[in-house]
Amino acid sequence: MPRLRKAVFPVAGFGSRFLPVTKASPKEMMPIVDKPLIQYAVEEAAAAGITEMIFVTGRNKRAIEDHFDKAHELETELERKGKEALLAQVRSVLPEKVSCIYIRQPEPLGLGHAVLCAQPVVGNDPFAVLLADDLIDANPPAMARMAQIFEKEGSSLLGVEEVPHDQTQSYGIVTIDKMQGDMARIHSIVEKPRPADAPSNLAVIGRYVLTPRIFELLAHVTPGAGGEIQLTDAIAELLVHERALAVRLPGRRFDCGSKLGYLQATVEFGKRHPEVGGAFTRYLESR
Ligand code: UTP
Repeated sequence: MPRLRKAVFPVAGFGSRFLPVTKASPKEMMPIVDKPLIQYAVEEAAAAGITEMIFVTGRNKRAIEDHFDKAHELETELERKGKEALLAQVRSVLPEKVSCIYIRQPEPLGLGHAVLCAQPVVGNDPFAVLLADDLIDANPPAMARMAQIFEKEGSSLLGVEEVPHDQTQSYGIVTIDKMQGDMARIHSIVEKPRPADAPSNLAVIGRYVLTPRIFELLAHVTPGAGGEIQLTDAIAELLVHERALAVRLPGRRFDCGSKLGYLQATVEFGKRHPEVGGAFTRYLESR
C-alpha cells in the first residue's frame, strides 16, 4: 500500500464570515493564542508522517509563504539580542524534513476546484486534505489516525462528526454502514442539505484522505451548492467507483471558520498555554 506523503491545504477561500480581518490576509493565518491556524494543521500533517505540504493559495498568498519561509533578518536580530527561546520558536515553524509547495487558485471557485488545482503536484499519489479552519485538538492527532487507517485499508477516508440536526446545512452529510470501531463504509454523501432533507446528522469535517481518481471526477463536476465546484459532488461520484470510509475523529473539533468556534478554541488553548495558561485561567475564574 502506498504511504501517505502529501497533504493539500486549500487556503484560498474568501473567509467572508470573518470580514474585515480576512480582507487582506487569509483566515488560515488567524492565530489561536500565538500560532496561526495553518501551523497547527501543518504540524498535524507532519505528525502523520506527511512530508510534502502543498498549499493552494489565493489573492493573499504572501502571508502564508512568508510564515513558512526562513526569516533571516528576524533570526539575526533575535540572535543578537540573545532571545534564544523566541529564536527556537521562529526556527521551528516548519517541522523538520518537510517541504512546501505553493500553487495558485486563480479564482475561489470552490473547495473542489482548489483541490483540483493541486493535481499537477500530487500526480498519481494518494493525498490528505486538511482544512485548517477545522482545528482538531486530539492526541494522537486526527490525521495520524487517518494515515494509520489508510495504510491498512487503502481507500479514501472522510473525517466525520455528529452535528446538531439544525446545522446540516453547513456541512457535507454522509450515510454509512454500522460503525466498526471508529470507521464505517460510506453509502452516500450530499452537500449542505436542509435539516428536513438531511439523510443523517453525520457531517464531514475538514480532514480527508483521497485517492488520485478524485481528480478525473473533479474535472467533470459542474458548479453545485452556492455556485461552487464542490469536493462533495466529486466524492459522491467516487463512491460509484470505489469504497470510501468515514472515520470518527478523536478529540475535540473547533470550527474556527465561525466566530464562536474561534473564540472557544482561543479560550481552551489559552487556558493550557505554557506561558499565560495559569494567569488566563485565574482571570476567567475571577470574573
Ligand atoms: P469555506 O467553505 O470555509 O469558505 O472553505 P471560505 O471562503 O474559506 O469561508 P466563508 O464561508 O466565506 O467564511 C473551506 C476551505 O476551503 C478553502 C478555504 O480556504 C477553506 O480552507 N477554499 C474554499 C479554497 O481554497 N478555495 C475556494 O474556492 C473555496
